[in-house]
Amino acid sequence: MEKEPIIALDFPTWQETEPFLQPFENESLFVKVGMELYLQNGPSIVENLKKMNHRIFLDLKLHDIPNTVQQAMKGLAGLGVDMINVHAAGGQKMMAAAREGLEQGTSGQRPILLAVTQLTSTSEEQMQTEQLIPVSLEESVLHYAKLTKAAGCDGVVCSVHEAAKISEVCGTEFLKVTPGIRMKEDDANDQKRVADPQLARTLGSSMIVVGRSITKAEQPLVAYQKVKQLWGGM
Ligand code: C5P
Repeated sequence: MEKEPIIALDFPTWQETEPFLQPFENESLFVKVGMELYLQNGPSIVENLKKMNHRIFLDLKLHDIPNTVQQAMKGLAGLGVDMINVHAAGGQKMMAAAREGLEQGTSGQRPILLAVTQLTSTSEEQMQTEQLIPVSLEESVLHYAKLTKAAGCDGVVCSVHEAAKISEVCGTEFLKVTPGIRMKEDDANDQKRVADPQLARTLGSSMIVVGRSITKAEQPLVAYQKVKQLWGGM
């Protein structure tokens, strides 16, 4: 289990990100850069965070034809990020191509490769009516997890509520990275399948991703330390 909760840096620019990170200067963080920050600022964001010695999860959720994803991953591997992802809905071949691209583009340690199963903002009803997937949400997530493993990825992004079942099917070493984390007193916002850090630990998440519960808190450092404590079982 990864000790540090991953902070989702969902900010539009470095100008907003830098002051947010200021109170954390004595912490070694694991941060997530998503499409909001990366697509508006580019690779300089990763360089800035690496200079601060933070570990980086580049959450771009790639989903395209295998060759395009492979070439994109080859380039992104050169940034030296620690973890990166694709959408499992892109299929086994696309996921295997993503891994190959990462291997081709990495000189040292290959970044951890994850695949998103179903977004934690997706409800079962929405999945069935909009994606026309006629099974339960859990079945869909488990199916994607098995496909992800078969493609040679290191784990999945899923909700806390599916983590235990995924461990049963894919093994405990297979990573379950879980967003949709809320403190009991927080608003769920657009997330549907939420859980608090304690429950995430109990149900077998490998890493938790926390955004607004920290970034929108009045005192983000205090909120971070509280999440870290609950997650670590202290
Ligand atoms: O603010 P909040 O804690 O809801 O942020 C969750 C973060 O995790 C966001 O950056 C979102 O893009 C990401 N994410 C998610 N569900 C997934 C994959 C990623 O919420 N399945």
